[in-house]
Amino acid sequence: MTIPKGLICPICQSKLEKVGNSLKCESSHSYDFAKSGYVNLLNPGKMNNAKAGESKEMIKARTAFFSGGSYAKIREYLIELISDLPKDVIVDAGCGEGYYTEGVAEKYSDSTVIGFDMSKHGTEHGAKSSRAKKIENTFFSVSNIFNMPLENESADIIINLFAPVSYEEFARVLKKGGYLIIGASGAKHLYEMKSVLYETVYLNELNVHKNDAFEMICVKNLTYGTEISGNESIMNLFTMTPYYHHTSDSDKAKLSSLESLYTTVEVDFTILRKR
Ligand SMILES: C[S@@+](CC[C@H](N)C(=O)[O-])C[C@H]1O[C@@H](n2cnc3c(N)ncnc32)[C@H](O)[C@@H]1O
Ligand SMILES: [Zn+2]
Repeated sequence: MTIPKGLICPICQSKLEKVGNSLKCESSHSYDFAKSGYVNLLNPGKMNNAKAGESKEMIKARTAFFSGGSYAKIREYLIELISDLPKDVIVDAGCGEGYYTEGVAEKYSDSTVIGFDMSKHGTEHGAKSSRAKKIENTFFSVSNIFNMPLENESADIIINLFAPVSYEEFARVLKKGGYLIIGASGAKHLYEMKSVLYETVYLNELNVHKNDAFEMICVKNLTYGTEISGNESIMNLFTMTPYYHHTSDSDKAKLSSLESLYTTVEVDFTILRKR
């Protein structure tokens, strides 16, 4: 684990320092590290925090799915996309269980890579996994990406994959000239999986990411096909999609008998630079 520079208290916004097994600010607000190595930096006064973020079940499904390698190309593509950018401090905003956070940290061992997510289960998994793999340049914290515990202009890159976007907060935390990389489902992402579930299948709408605080650099598209073997993996993929929450039991049952599924994976990466 690395303690990033520029961490601030979510209550009073003063600097946090590591004291023993906690992070403390000058007003004596204190945040303990869990055994697994993540720390909860949500403002304890905000009542909407407790149940936010992905459930344990969702995080488990993600981890199992990622281990099959079907999204490895997305991770490799992301790593390549940032290869030429300044990257002392990288924030993975909405990091989930830390698959991309960890991949980026492993590749760029001189960077400090911060994983923020509302889900305690996600950040816990990320911290445990980094420790098990002896990846020392990550920091995982339960945090709200709309109110991050970081000083103004403290990050070189913010990665935001399949997660909510907060331009205002991302612009506050990025250094001038820093990069925001937003990854979102492309038009045909998981099209064949949707074709099994639904009679009428629509293409995903184009994601247009624009904001006055940022200069648009480019949109890069990654498209490939992948064969997913075994019903457990297919159901894990389904569980990590938004469709999981919006599909009737009878439609869900159509996937539960499948043993193999070929599907398109398509991600649009929008690269923006803070003005
Ligand atoms: C679809 S998942 C994507 C996770 C990860 N980026 C990935 O691609 O595997 C979206 C994540 O955003 C997190 N999330 C949603 N709203 C958030 C917020 N306001 N602050 C922090 N995390 C949030 C959820 O807990 C969830 O883990
Ligand atoms: Zn404080």
